[in-house]
Amino acid sequence: MLVYGILLQLVISIVSANTASSKPCVLKSFNTGLVCVCNSTYCDTLIFKLPVKVGDVLIISSSKSGLRFHESQARFNESMKRIPHGPFHYGDGNSDTSSRYMNKIIKVVKKFEGIEEPLDSYVNIMVNKSNKFQSVIGFGGAFTGSVSYNLKQLSKELQDHIYQGYYSKEVGLAYNMMRIPIGGCDFDLSPWAYNEEPVHDIFLSNFTKLDDRDIEKIHQINELKKITKNQEIKIFGAAWSPPKWMKSNNDYTGFSVLRDEYYQTWADYHVKYLELMAKNGLPFWAISTGNEPLNGIIFPYFVHFMSLGWDPILQGKWVADNLGPAMKMSPVAKNVKLLGCDDQRYTLPGWFEQMYKGSPNSTEFLDGVAVHWYADKVTSADYLDQTAEQFPNKFIIASEASSGDRPWDLHKPELGSWNRFEDYFLDIIEDFNHYVSAWVDWNLVLDESGGPNYANNYVDAAIVQTGSELYKQPIFYGLGHFSRFVPEGSVRIKSKSSNKYVKSVSFLRPDGYTVVILYNMAEHYLHVNIFDHDHGALRLDLPAKSAHTVVYK
Ligand SMILES: *[C@@H]1O[C@H](CO)[C@@H](O)[C@H](O)[C@H]1NC(C)=O
Ligand SMILES: *[C@@H]1O[C@H](CO)[C@@H](O)[C@H](O)[C@H]1NC(C)=O
Ligand SMILES: *[C@@H]1O[C@H](CO)[C@@H](O)[C@H](O)[C@H]1NC(C)=O
Ligand SMILES: *[C@@H]1O[C@H](CO)[C@@H](O)[C@H](O)[C@H]1NC(C)=O
Ligand SMILES: *[C@@H]1O[C@H](CO)[C@@H](O)[C@H](O)[C@H]1NC(C)=O
Repeated sequence: MLVYGILLQLVISIVSANTASSKPCVLKSFNTGLVCVCNSTYCDTLIFKLPVKVGDVLIISSSKSGLRFHESQARFNESMKRIPHGPFHYGDGNSDTSSRYMNKIIKVVKKFEGIEEPLDSYVNIMVNKSNKFQSVIGFGGAFTGSVSYNLKQLSKELQDHIYQGYYSKEVGLAYNMMRIPIGGCDFDLSPWAYNEEPVHDIFLSNFTKLDDRDIEKIHQINELKKITKNQEIKIFGAAWSPPKWMKSNNDYTGFSVLRDEYYQTWADYHVKYLELMAKNGLPFWAISTGNEPLNGIIFPYFVHFMSLGWDPILQGKWVADNLGPAMKMSPVAKNVKLLGCDDQRYTLPGWFEQMYKGSPNSTEFLDGVAVHWYADKVTSADYLDQTAEQFPNKFIIASEASSGDRPWDLHKPELGSWNRFEDYFLDIIEDFNHYVSAWVDWNLVLDESGGPNYANNYVDAAIVQTGSELYKQPIFYGLGHFSRFVPEGSVRIKSKSSNKYVKSVSFLRPDGYTVVILYNMAEHYLHVNIFDHDHGALRLDLPAKSAHTVVYK
């Protein structure tokens, strides 16, 4: 059926390959690519043992040709402690392949410092644990109204596969974060907010309990926590729109701003939500100042779903005078973190300079910055560096990503799409190399049309449900290459690749393990050397279009 034979080859000492304990992916082929299929009785799992001996290496690999979390082992070669400098010949360079191989490396090494692209296929990655950057907060996905609806269409067994697949630390991706819309968003059956009636009700007298849709969600999330035994999920919220009566256009979508007289009411609305959620057993870790504030003032002709427009100056005033103080006065909300912006990368860091103009106190209330991925391909990651530099005490999280939103895209799941895998994988690597601390995907599960979505804003998801089966898309595994191996509290360390076709990011975990994550973008094999001063060199052959998580002590 498949060319499954092009397996990852390790040049040195393969101790053993494959594990008996993981359930392998059952591949299904579509003309757009390969997915892993789960049904009510079968779903693939990821179970592995961390290497015990110093210098032993665990490698988990996924590739365009069909590897999904393939496990193998290797060992560092301790006699190669560093990339040799100066004129250096290894062996006679003639007969044995190893000598020729080493001389090739050395040729590359000479070019390394100038970061010239070597013409041949040998790539070096330098890892340096003493060079530390930001800490990791985690990974997750979003529990929207559509996700809640999709789960309800499925058998208990399939629901459990989704919960375990994402949130289990033993067999799944070990997600530890979850984004939840406050009221409705576009991924729902209709737009909605709390206290739609009575109108012009500054005391929110009808917002005394949660909506039935929230109760359903809380029930599902409690089930998820029980099944996965994962009780420490960082839940964070964002509102898309207030009830219509608080808005200048009295509508859920279109050009709008918050009416002056409801600045305090909109702040109180957030606090009430946080208090009610906590009372119902779902305390929040954070909220943002609102989803994509520019949709309501710059893009109302393109965005046909719930939004509230803000310019940053007015938002600065609202945060400093209303939202920030209201949160601090609530015994529940005062412990909830506040994230700024929650819009595309190009808004950074200027958004905060403008908020500061609105009120110098506004940015004081922010614990972190949330950023969406939709313009990343046309926006330099330097904006993230500038934000990190300007706010050294605030963390940056990537709070939303999905494929299929652009005008020229297929606006639905592209089953097995490796291009979409690559978009995700490279974006995550880039973000973490530029001070991002967490990466959160959009809808956890959608149907085959990429919905439901009342605004026809269909997109892809890492798990697609067909009613009787789940299709785990390549991006599911792409996310797992990070989330399962890089727990909260890990620190990004320096790693530098000598070749633009191999991207990498590295972390030091709280338990002392080093994690190097690599992607070979090339359409052919590349031979990679990972150099770690403490261990020597690790030689790997990476198949075309393949991703790898390398773990060692
Ligand atoms: C579920 O999937 C497994 C593995 O592919 C297969 O053996 C089994 O027949 C499937 N069950 C149903 C009911 O389709
Ligand atoms: C390790 O590297 C040395 C050269 O530094 C080489 O002589 C030796 O063969 C290598 N060992 C293995 C197992 O590849
Ligand atoms: C690793 O980084 C540290 C801190 O920046 C530096 O002092 C050291 O020289 C580096 N080590 C290597 C082997 O490059
Ligand atoms: C309160 O909201 C509910 C819908 O959630 C609505 O049916 C009811 O009429 C509202 N009450 C008032 C007094 O407007
Ligand atoms: C900023 O906060 C300080 C106290 O933290 C307060 O004295 C001052 O009035 C505030 N400034 C504005 C413009 O709100």
